[in-house]
Amino acid sequence: MLNKKIEKALNDQVAAEFYSAYLYLAMAAFLESLDLPGFANWMRVQYQEETAHGQILYNYIFERDGMVILQAIDAPPEEWKSVQDVFDEVYKHEQKVTALINNLVDLALSEKDHATYNFLQWFVKEQVEEEASAKAVQQQLRLLGDSKSGLFMVDREMGARIFNTPAPLLGQD
Ligand code: FEO
Repeated sequence: MLNKKIEKALNDQVAAEFYSAYLYLAMAAFLESLDLPGFANWMRVQYQEETAHGQILYNYIFERDGMVILQAIDAPPEEWKSVQDVFDEVYKHEQKVTALINNLVDLALSEKDHATYNFLQWFVKEQVEEEASAKAVQQQLRLLGDSKSGLFMVDREMGARIFNTPAPLLGQD
């Protein structure tokens, strides 16, 4: 069974994951409004990933005989200065999420909850990928500069991203 401190911290992370989902859906809407369907698709996949992260935590809390308490989710911003600005924020946001996961890992260790420590390792690995994929798009945009034709080409590439259900939701973890 989860102790109350860990249960509360995991519930806070559920809220953080759903805020991330909301933030990326707001970014998707902004990118749609700029007529960049590929970038919007990339961001909708990101939104799906975040809801999956929330569900993985939800499942784990119940698996450990805890209780999921959903919290209010803040409204995300509505607009950004540019596509570059959007991806700069994605990268920064993912770094913040990594710090939250690291704090959870520290708490699991200090509370001697080795099952939660073990569970969180999936998120530790996932955050490496999350930061790397945000950074890759950020860099690509930086290289493009003001090139409209370059942006059009990258938009087509971004349209190819698809959502893959993470292993823990397939019962493979
Ligand atoms: Fe749930 Fe993008 O980290």
